[in-house]
Amino acid sequence: MSAVNTSPESMSIFSPQVAARFDALVEKYPLRRSALVPMLLYAQDEIGYLSDSVIAEVAQRIGITELDVRNVATYYSMLRFKPAGKFNVQVCTNISCMLRGAYDVYEKFQEELGIGHKGVTADGLFSLEEVECIGACCWAPAIQVNYAFHDELTPSGVPEILDRYRQQVQDKEKNA
Ligand code: FES
Repeated sequence: MSAVNTSPESMSIFSPQVAARFDALVEKYPLRRSALVPMLLYAQDEIGYLSDSVIAEVAQRIGITELDVRNVATYYSMLRFKPAGKFNVQVCTNISCMLRGAYDVYEKFQEELGIGHKGVTADGLFSLEEVECIGACCWAPAIQVNYAFHDELTPSGVPEILDRYRQQVQDKEKNA
């Protein structure tokens, strides 16, 4: 996550890079509100979730009400209104994955992490979601952790995946 621009001159909660991207987006579409969903995705990537401040600034940038923003945002399951874990584990349980054991994989994640759908672990490291198709059906069952895919998973492979992410954090702390 990049640095957030909170300088009073900018009056923006976003980094200069993301703010500039938003400026370009609203100019790109014939209707400013067409920029709403991409803006919300970029905003979520930077801030972590759609906080009240995110919604207020996006509404102001597009020139619509906060209620308009919320009405659209609540439609999309990939948009969040509360923080996810550092690693957001999305387990596809759609048809191809389901037929190849996705629910067993999902249950193993629940067991290992001690959380359910949309839950976040107490240390904030992981969150878990059961999601619709993530476009990796040929390699079912598939999951996505942030932007990384893991495919042809079995329940026995779940602890190793979680350990890999835990290790990433430990390595980063060691090198800090
Ligand atoms: S059904 Fe799971 S990735 Fe498509």
